[in-house]
This record gives sequence, structure tokens and C-alpha cells, in this order.
Amino acid sequence: MIRSHNCGELKLADVNKKVILSGWVQKIRNKGFIIWIDLRDRYGITQLVFDEKRSPKKVFDIAKNILREFVIQISGHVIERESKNDNIRTGSIEVLVNSIEILNPSKTPPFTIEDISDGGDELRMKYRYLDIRRNKIKENLIFRHKVTMEVRKYLSNNGFIDIETPYLIKSTPEGARDFIVPSRMNPGEFYALPQSPQTFKQLLMVGGIDRYFQIVKCFRDEDLRADRQPEFTQIDCEMSFVNQEDILNQFENLISHLIKKINNYKLDKFTRMTYDQAMREYGTDKPDIRFEMKLADITKNAKGFGFKVFDSSESIIGFPIKKAANYSRKEIDYWINWVKQPQIGAEGIVWIKYNDDKTLKSSVDKFYSQDVLLKWMKTFKANPGDLVFILSGELKKILKQLGELRLNIAQKIGLRDPTVFAPLWIVDFPLFKYDEVSSRLLAVHHPFTSPKEEDIKILKDNPEKVRANAYDLVINGNEIGGGSIRIHDSKLQKEIFKLLNLSDEEVDEQFGFLIDAFKYGAPPHGGIAFGLDRLVAILGGEEIIRDFIAFPKNNSGRDSMIDSPSKIKKDQLDDLGVKIKKHLK
Ligand code: AMO
Repeated sequence: MIRSHNCGELKLADVNKKVILSGWVQKIRNKGFIIWIDLRDRYGITQLVFDEKRSPKKVFDIAKNILREFVIQISGHVIERESKNDNIRTGSIEVLVNSIEILNPSKTPPFTIEDISDGGDELRMKYRYLDIRRNKIKENLIFRHKVTMEVRKYLSNNGFIDIETPYLIKSTPEGARDFIVPSRMNPGEFYALPQSPQTFKQLLMVGGIDRYFQIVKCFRDEDLRADRQPEFTQIDCEMSFVNQEDILNQFENLISHLIKKINNYKLDKFTRMTYDQAMREYGTDKPDIRFEMKLADITKNAKGFGFKVFDSSESIIGFPIKKAANYSRKEIDYWINWVKQPQIGAEGIVWIKYNDDKTLKSSVDKFYSQDVLLKWMKTFKANPGDLVFILSGELKKILKQLGELRLNIAQKIGLRDPTVFAPLWIVDFPLFKYDEVSSRLLAVHHPFTSPKEEDIKILKDNPEKVRANAYDLVINGNEIGGGSIRIHDSKLQKEIFKLLNLSDEEVDEQFGFLIDAFKYGAPPHGGIAFGLDRLVAILGGEEIIRDFIAFPKNNSGRDSMIDSPSKIKKDQLDDLGVKIKKHLK
């Protein structure tokens, strides 16, 4: 027997029991005549005692030479601790050791394996297997497992069938760049790793599988952020014979079920908001609605007073910050400098303090009377005691800037409570967006997304105004999922491809298989995919997905532990018929 118990389970009731424990040495306290060792495994920590008087001499001598992270096996019996530690489950007992075996020595780890480690991010990534020994990462992985199991159970109980789709597929220009895999057997030809199983799940619908799901890796060669990894996991779902309402209800139930099961948190019916409303009121299509601070437009009432900055701006928009009229000049300057950083790119902030005594003090007092400012306060729904921040400029730009400013202020003043969940469906996305660089329309979601029935008539004349049967699930300001009702009518699909400026040849080459399949009786269908990494992080009260992935990539897309990506041998390249440009060798 290598262990009779684990390191997290022994209690007072076990006193006098003979036990065998195995694990890693977390901590050693050597008092000379007595040595305490904290033994750790996945389940917890148990304190071991080696006593010069009570332990065999051979055992005591071995204990003297043990170092951190050695893997050891001991046997002994459980005794009650004199000074108990209420912070750990096994804190009332210890094990007096009478035999020990070193199962494996260990080099000194490059950082401390403690809840608060002395290792920086990069170092811990390089030795991720050691980082996984730490409670934080270990518990995050166990948490992820719980969420995943619950998702599988729920979907399976609701008639969804888990089907795997291929990873070596065909490159298609979707939102992000593809990761490409050269084919040895077909020299000069390449597979692509899927950005999502989108086309396959639609083919499964044609195949008659009316409820599909898959917890699946997706690959996107895009710039990384705290909530983005080049390979990430989706809970991918598709259903036949459904409309948008059916999908929203079905998956609202899934998310409510998960948050109840995992967080013991009961959600009300999800808020719904159109894309236009989200942009207008929050400056973003993924608003955090745990707090108000809604945007309001004062363009009409702020131009023509001689303030050049406003007079020359397309839009003038701001939002109130509750109970912030007492901000110091320094605090206001902090935010002015914040919006001026290149990533935000604003010129500055116009501010107005609506004092408790109802007087108004602003950075533009020279141009605007108290009456005008008071009118603005009404538009902003500001109350005495509030502070208002205003940005002006090109509408699209300032909405983005305001959205970010609002979120960051809320973060700083503690309005983003991680124990509150505020899910939100964003609906009625535009079907197309105009791309300035290529001077053509692009699909906002993907080319298979159906337009709203009532907007089909303006497809040709006013395509940018066409709304899609597409929806996103946002939780606490994070895009957790997105999907749409697909086009199943090949005539309409053709029309959309045309508007996207894709020639018949291009369509045939990229999506011919799907168009062909749709000629054999495609049912009406639609679906959604959730970002599992993001969902797990949010349910865990965080936003950085890396901590919930066993072996993530760093910000430059590298795995510093296995040192990948890496160069490959010339023979391998020759085999694949791939040539590397000289300057990259
Ligand atoms: P979409 O591209 O919106 O939709 O992706 C669905 C969800 O996946 C998550 N996600 C990511 N998570 C981590 N790192 C990334 N790089 C990353 N990219 C996306 C987000 C997002 O909401 N095939 C469609 C779905 C459909 O139409 O059914 C799709 O992939 O949480």
C-alpha cells in the first residue's frame, strides 16, 4: 500500500490510527530534537512529527536530510496536536512517524510552492507543473472540471449529443487568422486548425442530428489579451427546428442551472438589450450592467456656446459617477491622463461637479451658464453629489473611449463585485460592418448568419442597416458566448455572399461543400458557442482565463515550458515541401 489515507482527511476521530501517507514536502521546521514536516498532496496538508525520543533513530536521521518538494512515504500513528491550527482541515492532529521512505528527491523548486509565491508569472509558466501544485491553480483546475461535468450532464440530459468534429480542416478566411498545418502526403497543400466547428455543426444538422454539443478546442491566430488564448475551449452547440427565442431560452436555462449548481446563486430572467441600445448607453456591445453610469448625449445642447472643442465635435457624450463630486483635482487629473494614454487616445475630459448644495462647478464654466449645465445634469440623470465626465469627438471613437473609461472607473471604485452575476443577452446585431481598409462589407458574425426577416427587403439598398438573428451572452462585461440563426435557404445565402463581395468561384472554393449540403434538405437551424475558459473564470470570480487553463500560452503565444513554437529539422521541412525564408532561418 502506498497510502492508506490522503493528506486532507485525518481528524481528531482518527487519533491512534496507524496510517500510511504519501506526498510532497511543503515545509520543514527543524528544532534540533524535533522536526515537523508539512506533507502535501492534492487533498490537503498533514503535519508530520519526527521526534528524537519517540521516532526510531534511523527515521529521525533521514528526516534531518529531507528537503522541500521531496516525495516521501511515511507510516505512523495519528496523535492530537498540542497547538491546533484551525485554518486547515487536519489542523487538530499530526502524525508521529515511525518509518519513512524517500520515493523521490527533488531539486529545490525555482519558486515557493505557497499560496503567495515568490515566483513571477513567466517563471511560474515555465515550471507550470510546479505551479499546479499550488492551491490557486489546482483549485481552479478542479473548479473547471466541475463546470465542465455539469455542462455535459445538463446538455446530455436535454437531448444534446456530444459529437467530435475534425481538427485538421480547410482554411477559410474567418474573423481571425488560421493556424496552418502542412500536409506531407499532399505536398504544397495545407490543413487549417478550426477557429470553431461552425461548418461541421451545420453539416450535422443536415445529417439530422437535431441537438449537438461538443466541448472543443478552437484555434485562432490573433493578438492575445487577458481573456484570449490562441487555443481555447468552446462549449459549442447547435439545434434544428428552432428560432432565436428557443435558443435564448434553452441556453439561458443552461447558464442559470450552472450558476445555481456551481455558485449557489439564483439568477432572475436575463436582461435583453439591442446592440444599438448597448452602444448608445454603454459605448460597448458587452456592457457590465452591475452598475449604472449610463452614457447620455448632450450634443444638441452643448454646441454653439463658443467652446471650440465641442463646437467642432461630431458628438458630445458623458456619464455621471455617483457621489464623486468631492473628487480632488488630483483624482480628476488621474482620469484625464488615463484617457490620454495611446491605447485610449482621447484628448481630455470635460468635467462637471454637481455639488451637494446644487451649485455646479465645471472645467468649462467660462462657456456655459449654470442653467445650461443644470439642463445637462437632467440629461445625465445626475443628482447633487455626482460628478459628470464628458468626452467629445467622432461618435464611434468616443463611444469606445467612454465604454472603457466607465468600466475602469467602476473597477477602481469597487463597483464590479465578483460575487454578483449580471447576465445579459445582446440581440439585433448588425449583419454587416463596413471595412475601411478593404472598402467592402464584412460579416459581423459569420456569412451563414441569417438577417432578420423584416430587414431582408433592405438588404440591397441599405445593407449596413440590416439586423441579424445573432445574439451574444455577456456576463459582467465579458462576452461569454455568441451565436445566430443560420441561413438555410441557398438563394438568400448566395445573395449574402454577393454582398460580401465573394465571387462564385471563391464561394465554391471556400464553402462549396456547405452550399452543396444545403441542397439536400437543410432544416432551419441555429446555435451558440460559449467560451468555456471565460465562463469558468467568471464563475470563479475572475477575468484572467490563463489561471483556469492547465497549460496556457504566454502573451506572445509561446509555451515557455515546452519551448514552443520551435524550429524544426531540415529533413522535416523537406518532407513537407516547406521552405523557410533565409532571414527567418
Ligand atoms: P465566437 O467567435 O463568438 O462564435 O466565439 C464564441 C465564444 O468563444 C470565446 N472566444 C474566446 N475565448 C478565449 N480566447 C479566444 N481567442 C476566444 N475567441 C472567442 C468567446 C466567444 O463568445 N462559431 C461561432 C458560434 C456560433 O455561431 O454558434 C463562434 O465561434 O467567449
